[in-house]
Amino acid sequence: MSQYEPVIRFEKDEQIAIITLNRPDKLNAFSVEMRDQLYEIICIVRDDPTIHAVVLCGEGRGFCAGADLTEFGTNPTVIQKRRIRLQRDLWEEIRRLPKPIAVALHGFAVGSGLEMAMLCDFRFATPGTQLALPEAKLGMLPAAGGTQSLPRLVSQGLALDFAFSGHRITAEEGYKKKLISKIVAKEELLDTVIQYMKTIVSQSGKSASWIKSLVANSIDISLSQGILKERVLVERSWTERRK
Ligand code: COA
Repeated sequence: MSQYEPVIRFEKDEQIAIITLNRPDKLNAFSVEMRDQLYEIICIVRDDPTIHAVVLCGEGRGFCAGADLTEFGTNPTVIQKRRIRLQRDLWEEIRRLPKPIAVALHGFAVGSGLEMAMLCDFRFATPGTQLALPEAKLGMLPAAGGTQSLPRLVSQGLALDFAFSGHRITAEEGYKKKLISKIVAKEELLDTVIQYMKTIVSQSGKSASWIKSLVANSIDISLSQGILKERVLVERSWTERRK
């Protein structure tokens, strides 16, 4: 790969942003440089009114082999590390993205690679894709939102077993456990995901972001708070439509 090739690629297909982790020689191991570039791109995608949905994918043999292990312990100070996390909270930006986001997984989705995927709305994967959270085995926590997103997708017992053991499971097993939304043949993966997002955009148009905001956050609030939020957003959507 050329020295000047970005570690995160960004393209547009009609109203869909396609974001590619682009460090294939290291199985897209997630480096500080990738975090910073991805953060910038997610903010652009969030604010660009011509983009209505997002597809995240990985170049090469796998989606992402987790945090770059060679960078562990290279932060100058704990305070600096904390400040960067507060200033560029990538995981929270992905979670709060007001547009539908799907991830196309193949090969490996390990550690923060899988956690990133769990913050997306839809997870498509090719048969045999390896999924794991090995952090505990390395004396760490799955702290890219993983301890919170996982039990919201699968049962609590399963979430604990998966995170305690660090065992790898295949996408097919992940599909049975509701971790994966759909299994797609490798040669069709990206086209299928892009087409799926185009269909969502054409069917739901501007309503997609309102619906996402209501549905995605419903689990964290009471039913009555949710109904209230729904009423507020309905009013707001009518006001916007009249503009
Ligand atoms: N950080 C840094 N480099 C990584 C990496 C990571 N998390 N995962 C893979 N790489 C690098 C390897 O060092 C290797 O680089 P090299 O060719 O310069 O030696 C290259 O990516 C390919 O990886 P390799 O291990 O040879 O591929 P594989 O197909 O045999 O195994 C995995 C794939 C994903 C099973 C294996 O790479 C792995 O276990 N990676 C670490 C996963 C992990 O613990 N992530 C951190 C979670 S917190």
